[in-house]
Amino acid sequence: MDFSYKNVSFLVVFLTAAYFFLLSCADPTEGFTNVPLTQENFEIQRPYDIPLEERYSFLNGTHRLWVYANDKPHDPNSHTQPRTEVRIRGLDYYSGVWQFEGHAFVPNGTSGATIVQIHGASHGATTIILRIYNGDMRYYSGQVVATDLYDKWFRVNLIHDVDGGKVTLFLDGVEKFETKDQGPGELHFKCGVYAAPANISYYMESKWRDIKIYKQY
Ligand SMILES: *[C@@H]1O[C@H](CO)[C@@H](O)[C@H](O)[C@H]1NC(C)=O
Ligand SMILES: *[C@@H]1O[C@H](CO)[C@@H](O)[C@H](O)[C@H]1NC(C)=O
Ligand SMILES: *[C@@H]1O[C@H](CO)[C@@H](O)[C@H](O)[C@H]1NC(C)=O
Repeated sequence: MDFSYKNVSFLVVFLTAAYFFLLSCADPTEGFTNVPLTQENFEIQRPYDIPLEERYSFLNGTHRLWVYANDKPHDPNSHTQPRTEVRIRGLDYYSGVWQFEGHAFVPNGTSGATIVQIHGASHGATTIILRIYNGDMRYYSGQVVATDLYDKWFRVNLIHDVDGGKVTLFLDGVEKFETKDQGPGELHFKCGVYAAPANISYYMESKWRDIKIYKQY
């Protein structure tokens, strides 16, 4: 009796551990539907006075985006920091559960650059900003959410549950960070390089491939 009770409790502990292990390995896109993208969905924002090909290339499926600390903003009327970013156009969202996926590469030396963000919120301009500082990824300039990301490809999955007010980040399929959002708004995904207010390297670059958008129905 005692023996079998121990067996059962062992089994329960084992199955619970296995369940959470499998949960943590689950594909973040599970239960989501891919939203097909065309060229029209990719708007490239770059310093307004510089030709596109001097800050962006698209070769063999890889978007390469770069910017310099002393570049101008993307719009002559903007007072924001320099950026070269893919702005996902035509899929602005206001509610529901949306997901951005892309494979990113940040060369050693790029620092103080937002590489992925959700633009829009009720409070402030952004829902989430993920920046690389010295190879680590931070939530804005605060919490470190991942380390040692230079010179390697990694998969980013960023899920925004607008109705639940929550944002979840996965890197290479592993959940790294979850936070409250900043309230609903006119929302869209961006990736590339956008200079932080401080601690920025002169040259900033990120590369992206296989950018996808998913929605939960
Ligand atoms: C193009 O990208 C593929 C991966 O999608 C890679 O296997 C191949 O080596 C790349 N070719 C060049 C010329 O970079
Ligand atoms: C980045 O480059 C610096 C300077 O060349 C070097 O000291 C450092 O080890 C490099 N870091 C990585 C992760 O390669
Ligand atoms: C920015 O630089 C200041 C001064 O060098 C330093 O104290 C601070 O920790 C840096 N912040 C980040 C996020 O690297």
